[in-house]
Amino acid sequence: MADNGRRDFMGKVFGGWAALGGLGALYAAKKSWDPLPSVKAAGFTKVDLSAAEPNVLNIEKWRGKPIFILKKTPEIVAKQTKEESARDVVVGKDHFLVCIGLCTHLGCIPAYRPDKHDFKCACHGGEFDVSGINTLPPPPSPMVIPPFKIEGTTLILGEEGPEYKKMKEAGVIA
Ligand code: FES
Repeated sequence: MADNGRRDFMGKVFGGWAALGGLGALYAAKKSWDPLPSVKAAGFTKVDLSAAEPNVLNIEKWRGKPIFILKKTPEIVAKQTKEESARDVVVGKDHFLVCIGLCTHLGCIPAYRPDKHDFKCACHGGEFDVSGINTLPPPPSPMVIPPFKIEGTTLILGEEGPEYKKMKEAGVIA
């Protein structure tokens, strides 16, 4: 009897801890998924990049699609190939990945792996590097860079600015 009581008590204590742990994990997840401050209007989404933290993936929504915004750390930038750098959206001294967060195989949303600095698609195992370039099949091409314009530290999705046009001319827009 006393034993059962103790087990009940332990169960409650453990359950309480598990619930708290769960809440903590949810909070951490929510915090890292909180979008950057943004304003949406008639096909355009304005995102203030000044609040972005390095190596933390932000997911914005533009015309019903998830948009990945990732501020790269100086270490990532230093290690990049020319091909990867060509896809960077540069704002001041900061380099960003900006792309439509849909796998180019069958459209799943790949997950960012902050420790590996790459993306893994859970649907069929495809992988993309930190610039959204496909590195492991089946994705046939890099994640798509949406039309964008830079104004100060604001990213405007849905408008073709000079930076976007330059990428287009260089053939890096997938
Ligand atoms: Fe991403 Fe198939 S949808 S690998």
